[in-house]
Amino acid sequence: MKDVQNADLRVRIGALTLENPIMPASGTFSEDLADVFDLDVLGAHVLKTIMHGTRAGNPTPRVCDLQSGMLNAIGIPSKGIDYFRDEMLPYWADFKAPLVVSISAHSYDEFARLCSEVSLAGVAAIEANISCPNIEANGNAFAMRPDTTHEVVTRLRAETDLPLWAKLTPNTGEPAEVALAAQAAGADALVVANTVLGMSVDIASRRPRLGNVMGGMSGPAIKPIALRMTYQCANAVDIPVIGCGGISTRDDVLEFLIAGAAAVQIGTATFQSPTAMARLITELESWMQEHGVASLDEIIGSIEAPNAGVFE
Ligand SMILES: Cc1cc2nc3c(=O)[nH]c(=O)nc-3n(C[C@H](O)[C@H](O)[C@H](O)COP(=O)(O)O)c2cc1C
Repeated sequence: MKDVQNADLRVRIGALTLENPIMPASGTFSEDLADVFDLDVLGAHVLKTIMHGTRAGNPTPRVCDLQSGMLNAIGIPSKGIDYFRDEMLPYWADFKAPLVVSISAHSYDEFARLCSEVSLAGVAAIEANISCPNIEANGNAFAMRPDTTHEVVTRLRAETDLPLWAKLTPNTGEPAEVALAAQAAGADALVVANTVLGMSVDIASRRPRLGNVMGGMSGPAIKPIALRMTYQCANAVDIPVIGCGGISTRDDVLEFLIAGAAAVQIGTATFQSPTAMARLITELESWMQEHGVASLDEIIGSIEAPNAGVFE
């Protein structure tokens, strides 16, 4: 085994080099975390999805606990593009880690306009949350189908020269086809994936536990789904895949990297332990030193799979 004193945790996501592969998942990261750890240890900063105008979000209750994770139907409350440009961007400019701005919209035109407007100095990449309802496709999320994925990513690509990441939904039955469509339309990376559609009922009141009835499941319960989809997408495309879903331990991170993820995003684990991301970076580095791994290139996509992952 090689003697590795200084393991190299850097990863490349297209044109961007990140100091390490650990970054927050959109919607689970905020300025408050700066009180508990140095946010510049992170590979990148991914902000909560913004939409163009101001929005209140969904009716309460907006979250509920599950046995191994949580359900949320926050509904993307947004203070709009002006607040982002005037208040948020200056705050994040003081950090070294690249800033990834997550955007979303319910129509192609609105999405394209927002993409153009957030393509500002200080933004390192745009993450398109295409897992949200598209009113031009009966409310189905853009990323449910290859054609709507292709259309929206093409429209976004035309509006920005910044690296463009497409965040997919695990609720599609055609993950590889959707991933290929995003790549063909010019996405620089994929984030795999958003929450799994779920529901919970309170038997005493017989009411859904979420004000929105259905919501997005996250946390350890969805890890095998996100891992499977990361593997499928990484096999299908040439652009980097960023794994996301249920990651809370160092071994979870390694599983995603081995399955083909070039980096990972951490969401619900931060709610359980606000310093989880900082811990994962330290633990990953120690693991690399202990195992003689000098660079993550030795790990990423190193899965020994007997076939391309066909399931019958
Ligand atoms: C409370 C909450 C809010 C979220 N908000 C967003 C959001 O604004 N945009 C987005 O793309 N994903 C959002 N997500 C999804 C996460 O970014 C992530 O894809 C998902 O939670 C799976 O990762 P995890 O199991 O590590 O939490 C949210 C998740 C949670 C739990």
